[in-house]
Amino acid sequence: MSKEKVNRVVLIGTGAVGCSYAYSMINQGVTEELVLIDVNESKSEGEAMDLNHGMPFAPSPMKVWSGSYKDCESADLIVISAGLAQKPGETRLQLLEKNTKIFKQIVKNIMDNNFNGIFLIATNPVDILTYVTLKESGLPKERVIGSGTVLDSARLRFALGQYFKVDPRNVHAAIIGEHGDTELPVWSHASIGIEQLENVLAKKKDANKGCLEDIFVNVRDAAYHIIERKGATYYGIGMSLVRITKAILYNENSILTVSAFLDGEYGHKNVYIGVPAVVNRSGIREIIEIDLNEKEKEQFNHSVTVLKETMSSIVQ
Ligand code: 2OP
Repeated sequence: MSKEKVNRVVLIGTGAVGCSYAYSMINQGVTEELVLIDVNESKSEGEAMDLNHGMPFAPSPMKVWSGSYKDCESADLIVISAGLAQKPGETRLQLLEKNTKIFKQIVKNIMDNNFNGIFLIATNPVDILTYVTLKESGLPKERVIGSGTVLDSARLRFALGQYFKVDPRNVHAAIIGEHGDTELPVWSHASIGIEQLENVLAKKKDANKGCLEDIFVNVRDAAYHIIERKGATYYGIGMSLVRITKAILYNENSILTVSAFLDGEYGHKNVYIGVPAVVNRSGIREIIEIDLNEKEKEQFNHSVTVLKETMSSIVQ
Protein backbone atom coordinates (compact mmCIF):
# COMPACT_ATOMS: atom_id res chain seq x y z
CA MET A 1 0.00 0.00 0.00
CA SER A 2 1.49 3.37 -0.97
CA LYS A 3 1.90 5.92 1.75
CA GLU A 4 -0.79 8.57 1.55
CA LYS A 5 0.52 12.10 0.98
CA VAL A 6 -0.17 14.30 3.94
CA ASN A 7 0.35 18.03 4.34
CA ARG A 8 3.28 19.01 6.49
CA VAL A 9 3.63 22.52 7.88
CA VAL A 10 6.82 23.52 9.68
CA LEU A 11 6.60 26.46 12.06
CA ILE A 12 9.86 28.23 12.88
CA GLY A 13 9.55 30.24 16.07
CA THR A 14 7.36 29.18 18.95
CA GLY A 15 6.90 32.58 20.57
CA ALA A 16 3.47 34.06 21.15
CA VAL A 17 2.73 34.55 17.43
CA GLY A 18 3.90 31.06 16.44
CA CYS A 19 1.95 29.41 19.26
CA SER A 20 -1.23 31.35 18.49
CA TYR A 21 -0.87 30.12 14.92
CA ALA A 22 -0.29 26.51 16.06
CA TYR A 23 -3.25 26.63 18.45
CA SER A 24 -5.50 28.02 15.76
CA MET A 25 -4.24 25.43 13.23
CA ILE A 26 -5.17 22.62 15.60
CA ASN A 27 -8.56 24.09 16.42
CA GLN A 28 -9.35 24.40 12.73
CA GLY A 29 -7.79 21.03 11.78
CA VAL A 30 -5.89 22.55 8.87
CA THR A 31 -3.02 20.12 8.27
CA GLU A 32 -2.01 16.55 9.10
CA GLU A 33 1.47 17.36 10.37
CA LEU A 34 2.75 20.38 12.25
CA VAL A 35 6.41 20.55 13.18
CA LEU A 36 7.58 23.11 15.73
CA ILE A 37 11.14 24.44 15.64
CA ASP A 38 12.66 27.02 17.97
CA VAL A 39 16.19 28.06 18.98
CA ASN A 40 15.03 27.23 22.46
CA GLU A 41 14.36 23.53 21.94
CA SER A 42 12.86 22.94 25.33
CA LYS A 43 10.29 25.69 24.60
CA SER A 44 9.15 24.02 21.36
CA GLU A 45 9.09 20.65 23.14
CA GLY A 46 6.90 22.04 25.90
CA GLU A 47 4.59 23.71 23.40
CA ALA A 48 4.22 20.48 21.41
CA MET A 49 3.36 18.56 24.58
CA ASP A 50 0.81 21.13 25.69
CA LEU A 51 -0.82 21.38 22.23
CA ASN A 52 -0.99 17.59 21.90
CA HIS A 53 -3.00 17.35 25.10
CA GLY A 54 -5.83 19.23 23.38
CA MET A 55 -5.91 16.80 20.46
CA PRO A 56 -8.86 14.73 21.74
CA PHE A 57 -10.93 17.92 21.38
CA ALA A 58 -9.67 18.93 17.93
CA PRO A 59 -11.89 18.57 14.83
CA SER A 60 -9.41 16.16 13.21
CA PRO A 61 -6.19 14.42 14.24
CA MET A 62 -2.94 16.23 13.72
CA LYS A 63 0.59 15.03 14.38
CA VAL A 64 2.43 17.76 16.27
CA TRP A 65 6.03 17.45 17.35
CA SER A 66 9.09 19.48 18.21
CA GLY A 67 11.42 18.81 15.29
CA SER A 68 14.61 19.91 13.61
CA TYR A 69 15.57 21.50 10.30
CA LYS A 70 15.77 17.97 8.83
CA ASP A 71 11.96 17.93 8.92
CA CYS A 72 11.93 20.77 6.36
CA GLU A 73 12.84 18.57 3.40
CA SER A 74 9.36 17.15 2.96
CA ALA A 75 7.47 20.21 4.19
CA ASP A 76 4.74 21.72 2.01
CA LEU A 77 4.74 25.03 3.83
CA ILE A 78 7.17 26.71 6.20
CA VAL A 79 5.85 29.52 8.35
CA ILE A 80 8.44 31.76 9.98
CA SER A 81 7.47 33.79 13.00
CA ALA A 82 10.90 33.71 14.63
CA GLY A 83 12.77 36.85 15.51
CA LEU A 84 12.63 39.70 17.93
CA ALA A 85 9.33 41.45 18.53
CA GLN A 86 8.47 45.14 18.54
CA LYS A 87 9.16 46.91 21.81
CA PRO A 88 6.77 49.65 22.99
CA GLY A 89 7.27 52.67 20.74
CA GLU A 90 9.54 50.80 18.34
CA THR A 91 8.49 50.77 14.68
CA ARG A 92 8.50 47.58 12.67
CA LEU A 93 11.26 48.98 10.51
CA GLN A 94 13.53 49.57 13.50
CA LEU A 95 13.53 45.84 14.02
CA LEU A 96 14.99 45.30 10.61
CA GLU A 97 18.68 44.96 11.25
CA LYS A 98 18.35 42.49 14.11
CA ASN A 99 15.83 40.27 12.38
CA THR A 100 17.59 40.25 8.99
CA LYS A 101 20.59 38.60 10.60
CA ILE A 102 18.45 35.98 12.34
CA PHE A 103 16.54 35.33 9.11
CA LYS A 104 19.55 34.74 6.91
CA GLN A 105 20.66 31.93 9.21
CA ILE A 106 17.18 30.38 9.46
CA VAL A 107 16.62 30.37 5.70
CA LYS A 108 20.09 28.89 5.16
CA ASN A 109 19.33 26.07 7.62
CA ILE A 110 16.06 25.37 5.80
CA MET A 111 17.54 25.39 2.29
CA ASP A 112 20.48 23.22 3.40
CA ASN A 113 17.80 20.59 4.00
CA ASN A 114 16.49 20.78 0.42
CA PHE A 115 13.20 22.53 1.13
CA ASN A 116 11.15 22.97 -2.03
CA GLY A 117 7.75 24.18 -0.85
CA ILE A 118 6.19 27.51 0.01
CA PHE A 119 7.41 30.08 2.54
CA LEU A 120 4.99 32.17 4.57
CA ILE A 121 6.71 34.93 6.53
CA ALA A 122 5.23 36.73 9.54
CA THR A 123 8.19 38.31 11.33
CA ASN A 124 8.45 42.11 11.18
CA PRO A 125 9.23 44.13 9.26
CA VAL A 126 7.42 41.52 7.23
CA ASP A 127 7.69 43.01 3.74
CA ILE A 128 11.45 43.31 3.98
CA LEU A 129 12.04 39.96 5.67
CA THR A 130 9.98 38.30 2.95
CA TYR A 131 12.34 39.92 0.43
CA VAL A 132 15.32 38.62 2.42
CA THR A 133 13.76 35.13 2.33
CA LEU A 134 13.32 35.32 -1.45
CA LYS A 135 16.96 36.28 -1.97
CA GLU A 136 18.39 33.80 0.53
CA SER A 137 16.25 30.85 -0.57
CA GLY A 138 16.46 31.24 -4.34
CA LEU A 139 12.87 29.93 -4.61
CA PRO A 140 10.53 31.46 -7.20
CA LYS A 141 8.76 34.66 -6.07
CA GLU A 142 5.36 32.94 -6.25
CA ARG A 143 6.43 30.61 -3.44
CA VAL A 144 7.72 33.23 -1.04
CA ILE A 145 4.80 35.04 0.58
CA GLY A 146 4.53 37.52 3.43
CA SER A 147 1.53 37.97 5.72
CA GLY A 148 1.45 41.55 4.38
CA THR A 149 -1.67 43.51 5.24
CA VAL A 150 -3.98 40.51 5.74
CA LEU A 151 -4.22 41.36 9.44
CA ASP A 152 -4.66 45.08 8.76
CA SER A 153 -7.48 44.31 6.31
CA ALA A 154 -9.08 42.09 8.97
CA ARG A 155 -8.80 44.91 11.50
CA LEU A 156 -10.45 47.28 9.03
CA ARG A 157 -13.26 44.84 8.31
CA PHE A 158 -13.83 44.32 12.01
CA ALA A 159 -13.91 48.07 12.70
CA LEU A 160 -16.28 48.79 9.81
CA GLY A 161 -18.45 45.88 10.93
CA GLN A 162 -18.68 47.46 14.38
CA TYR A 163 -19.43 50.89 12.95
CA PHE A 164 -22.19 49.73 10.61
CA LYS A 165 -23.35 46.93 12.92
CA VAL A 166 -22.85 44.16 10.38
CA ASP A 167 -20.96 40.88 10.32
CA PRO A 168 -17.30 41.71 9.48
CA ARG A 169 -17.36 38.81 7.02
CA ASN A 170 -19.79 40.90 4.94
CA VAL A 171 -17.42 43.85 4.89
CA HIS A 172 -15.29 43.96 1.76
CA ALA A 173 -12.50 46.40 2.34
CA ALA A 174 -8.74 46.23 2.22
CA ILE A 175 -5.58 47.84 3.48
CA ILE A 176 -2.61 47.67 1.11
CA GLY A 177 1.00 48.85 1.19
CA GLU A 178 3.63 48.33 3.85
CA HIS A 179 2.49 46.38 6.90
CA GLY A 180 3.26 49.42 8.99
CA ASP A 181 3.06 53.17 9.23
CA THR A 182 2.65 53.94 5.49
CA GLU A 183 -0.16 51.48 4.78
CA LEU A 184 -3.37 52.80 3.18
CA PRO A 185 -7.05 51.93 2.97
CA VAL A 186 -8.55 51.36 -0.49
CA TRP A 187 -11.78 53.26 0.15
CA SER A 188 -12.46 53.52 -3.59
CA HIS A 189 -13.22 49.80 -3.71
CA ALA A 190 -14.85 49.16 -0.34
CA SER A 191 -18.35 47.76 0.08
CA ILE A 192 -20.68 46.65 2.84
CA GLY A 193 -22.36 43.51 1.59
CA ILE A 194 -22.88 44.35 -2.07
CA GLU A 195 -23.43 48.08 -1.56
CA GLN A 196 -20.66 50.61 -2.06
CA LEU A 197 -19.31 51.97 1.20
CA GLU A 198 -19.89 55.54 -0.01
CA ASN A 199 -23.63 54.90 -0.43
CA VAL A 200 -23.97 53.10 2.88
CA LEU A 201 -22.27 56.00 4.60
CA ALA A 202 -24.48 58.59 2.87
CA LYS A 203 -27.56 56.81 4.21
CA LYS A 204 -26.30 56.50 7.77
CA LYS A 205 -28.05 59.22 9.78
CA ASP A 206 -25.61 59.46 12.69
CA ALA A 207 -22.46 59.19 10.53
CA ASN A 208 -19.94 61.87 11.37
CA LYS A 209 -17.56 63.47 8.93
CA GLY A 210 -14.13 62.02 9.24
CA CYS A 211 -15.35 58.71 10.66
CA LEU A 212 -13.55 56.73 7.97
CA GLU A 213 -10.29 58.54 8.63
CA ASP A 214 -10.68 57.84 12.36
CA ILE A 215 -11.38 54.18 11.68
CA PHE A 216 -8.35 53.91 9.42
CA VAL A 217 -5.97 55.65 11.84
CA ASN A 218 -7.08 53.28 14.60
CA VAL A 219 -6.49 50.30 12.34
CA ARG A 220 -3.09 51.54 11.21
CA ASP A 221 -2.00 52.15 14.80
CA ALA A 222 -3.71 49.10 16.30
CA ALA A 223 -0.45 47.23 16.94
CA TYR A 224 0.92 50.20 18.93
CA HIS A 225 -2.28 50.38 20.99
CA ILE A 226 -2.19 46.67 21.77
CA ILE A 227 1.55 46.60 22.52
CA GLU A 228 1.09 49.52 24.93
CA ARG A 229 -1.52 47.50 26.80
CA LYS A 230 -0.32 43.90 26.68
CA GLY A 231 3.21 44.02 25.30
CA ALA A 232 2.61 42.16 22.04
CA THR A 233 0.05 41.18 19.41
CA TYR A 234 -0.47 37.54 18.54
CA TYR A 235 -4.04 36.21 18.22
CA GLY A 236 -4.98 38.37 15.24
CA ILE A 237 -1.80 37.59 13.34
CA GLY A 238 -2.03 33.90 14.31
CA MET A 239 -5.50 33.64 12.76
CA SER A 240 -4.44 35.66 9.71
CA LEU A 241 -1.61 33.17 9.11
CA VAL A 242 -4.06 30.28 9.36
CA ARG A 243 -6.30 31.98 6.81
CA ILE A 244 -3.38 32.22 4.37
CA THR A 245 -2.32 28.63 5.16
CA LYS A 246 -5.80 27.37 4.26
CA ALA A 247 -5.78 29.31 0.99
CA ILE A 248 -2.51 27.56 0.13
CA LEU A 249 -3.08 23.99 1.35
CA TYR A 250 -6.71 23.78 0.17
CA ASN A 251 -5.88 25.38 -3.20
CA GLU A 252 -8.56 27.98 -2.57
CA ASN A 253 -7.64 30.74 -5.05
CA SER A 254 -8.56 33.17 -2.29
CA ILE A 255 -7.94 36.87 -2.71
CA LEU A 256 -5.87 38.09 0.21
CA THR A 257 -3.72 41.18 0.76
CA VAL A 258 -0.49 39.26 1.22
CA SER A 259 2.97 40.69 0.76
CA ALA A 260 3.90 39.83 -2.82
CA PHE A 261 6.90 40.58 -5.01
CA LEU A 262 6.10 43.33 -7.52
CA ASP A 263 7.61 42.84 -10.94
CA GLY A 264 6.07 45.76 -12.78
CA GLU A 265 2.63 45.56 -11.13
CA TYR A 266 1.44 48.95 -9.88
CA GLY A 267 4.43 50.43 -11.74
CA HIS A 268 7.01 49.04 -9.31
CA LYS A 269 9.68 46.37 -9.31
CA ASN A 270 11.88 44.53 -6.88
CA VAL A 271 9.89 45.12 -3.72
CA TYR A 272 7.59 43.08 -1.47
CA ILE A 273 4.44 44.90 -0.38
CA GLY A 274 0.82 44.17 0.61
CA VAL A 275 -1.42 43.92 -2.47
CA PRO A 276 -4.48 41.83 -3.28
CA ALA A 277 -3.35 38.52 -4.76
CA VAL A 278 -4.89 35.17 -5.66
CA VAL A 279 -3.40 32.54 -3.36
CA ASN A 280 -3.51 28.81 -4.03
CA ARG A 281 -1.52 25.55 -3.77
CA SER A 282 1.23 26.94 -5.96
CA GLY A 283 1.55 30.10 -3.86
CA ILE A 284 0.71 33.45 -5.43
CA ARG A 285 -1.15 32.71 -8.67
CA GLU A 286 -1.41 36.38 -9.62
CA ILE A 287 -1.37 39.87 -8.25
CA ILE A 288 -4.59 41.79 -8.80
CA GLU A 289 -3.99 45.31 -10.05
CA ILE A 290 -6.92 47.39 -8.92
CA ASP A 291 -7.57 50.88 -10.28
CA LEU A 292 -6.50 53.08 -7.42
CA ASN A 293 -7.64 56.69 -7.36
CA GLU A 294 -5.03 59.47 -7.47
CA LYS A 295 -4.75 59.82 -3.69
CA GLU A 296 -4.43 56.07 -3.20
CA LYS A 297 -1.80 55.85 -5.95
CA GLU A 298 0.20 58.58 -4.29
CA GLN A 299 -0.02 56.87 -0.91
CA PHE A 300 0.92 53.50 -2.38
CA ASN A 301 3.93 54.99 -4.19
CA HIS A 302 5.03 56.62 -0.96
CA SER A 303 4.76 53.29 0.85
CA VAL A 304 6.95 51.64 -1.82
CA THR A 305 9.50 54.45 -1.55
CA VAL A 306 9.73 54.13 2.23
CA LEU A 307 10.14 50.35 2.02
CA LYS A 308 12.83 50.62 -0.66
CA GLU A 309 14.74 53.29 1.23
CA THR A 310 14.73 51.25 4.39
CA MET A 311 15.67 48.13 2.52
CA SER A 312 18.62 49.77 0.76
CA SER A 313 20.54 50.05 4.01
CA ILE A 314 20.23 46.33 4.65
CA VAL A 315 19.64 44.37 1.47
CA GLN A 316 22.08 44.67 -1.42
C1 2OP B 1 0.65 43.63 14.27
O1 2OP B 1 0.28 44.38 13.36
C2 2OP B 1 2.83 43.83 15.42
O2 2OP B 1 2.72 43.44 13.12
C3 2OP B 1 2.09 43.20 14.31
O3 2OP B 1 -0.11 43.23 15.14
